Amino acid sequence: MQELTRPSTPSASLARSDMEAFWMPFTANRQFKEHPRLFVAAKDMHYTTIDGRQVLDGTAGLWCVNAGHCRPHIVEAIQRQVATMDYAPAFQMGHPGAFQLADRLAKMLPGDLNHVFFANSGSEAVDSALKIAIAYHRAKGEGTRQRLIGRERGYHGVGFGGISVGGIGPNRKFFGSLLNGVDHLPHTHNLQENAFSRQQPEWGAHLADELERIVALHDASNIAAVIVEPVAGSTGVLIPPKGYLERLRAICDKYGILLIFDEVITGFGRLGASFAADYFGVIPDMITVAKGITNGTIPMGAVFVRQEIYDTFMTGPENAIELAHGYTYSGHPMACAAGLATLELYEQEGLFQRANEMASYWEEAVHSLKGLPYVIDTRNLGLIAGIELESIPGKPTARAFECFLRCFEQGLLIRTTGDIIALSPPLIIEKHHIDELFGRLAEVIKGLP
Ligand SMILES: Cc1ncc(COP(=O)(O)O)c(C=O)c1O
Repeated sequence: MQELTRPSTPSASLARSDMEAFWMPFTANRQFKEHPRLFVAAKDMHYTTIDGRQVLDGTAGLWCVNAGHCRPHIVEAIQRQVATMDYAPAFQMGHPGAFQLADRLAKMLPGDLNHVFFANSGSEAVDSALKIAIAYHRAKGEGTRQRLIGRERGYHGVGFGGISVGGIGPNRKFFGSLLNGVDHLPHTHNLQENAFSRQQPEWGAHLADELERIVALHDASNIAAVIVEPVAGSTGVLIPPKGYLERLRAICDKYGILLIFDEVITGFGRLGASFAADYFGVIPDMITVAKGITNGTIPMGAVFVRQEIYDTFMTGPENAIELAHGYTYSGHPMACAAGLATLELYEQEGLFQRANEMASYWEEAVHSLKGLPYVIDTRNLGLIAGIELESIPGKPTARAFECFLRCFEQGLLIRTTGDIIALSPPLIIEKHHIDELFGRLAEVIKGLP
């Protein structure tokens, strides 16, 4: 087979007309294409823009590049894998990397969460977990347990399952009737009670008791699972009130309802522990992850399940497929190579411990913004921060988006959702980066309209 000598690479400049074809996700396409913001390279804590500027990454890409950008250990593993075996069929065939990664993950996980189902994104991981929950009860002879319970303001990706249990109105309202049989717990955000809390707020554990109300309405015999983000990220950083997750766990136990933690952003060190389950000492029945599992390099998601859930499926004839579910790219060789190298790097550099040690310096920096114009809340946990701005009357989101644009001009990448700034830097962040990040952000906030 004759090979082309040089594959084409993305060009270093783009004309407006070159930008039309790509329909960008979660982006104001027309506005963006008039005023593009393009990255062409990344290293450690920084991106390089197409016009050669350095931008400090305050968001680890999209909450995923926990070990920093273009780390040679991970890059080499991916390069080696793609040159050795680019793909292996995922159904009725295997390759060592998938087993090794699953085994390694199982050893990191708390309690008896010790089996791993691979997907390719957080959205797929969530849909997989919801399906496993319903199929699990059916396999146990409790096929009426089909209802799913999410939470207002929750984000669980964009599959139909994820938006059904998710609680962000704009992500749901365009897409019809969604899944049947879904209820939502109330969200836990309350500025009157909790503004400017450090770490977990005092007020709000009682909101978990709403689960009792939903159980009384439908009866536990009809409920499969509750899914929550232990720390809600995409909605604008909502830290769980003290005791809240413990109460959810207790109520789920009381009624035989599975508890799923969506740890797509909290997994892999974000809170200074491997998983939020470890950090809070609350062990769910399933955990969904993505993002940091490969340091954002190759798409991958996963569902971690407890021993008993896995065992429940392993009961029929040996030649029967136990779960009629999976993806062409479940456990893709490159994602597995990236995942193994990422976990090695996290461990070698003690990055979760590092995040834990850096969290108090981070906390001081976050709360130094209190008192600046329009800042109505600052909140933090681990290496996460939420900074809530007062909205411009009649123009929700406009002030925070202006802040995002001005930060970008000043060489700082932040993320905004509504009028909330969400920060989640790579875990390799140094104190001087934290000073730089909050120094620049403070200056930008002071100049906001
Ligand atoms: C908690 C949570 N779940 C699921 C997802 C969806 O992940 P993906 O965008 O990889 O589908 C995200 C993405 O931000 C998330 O934060």
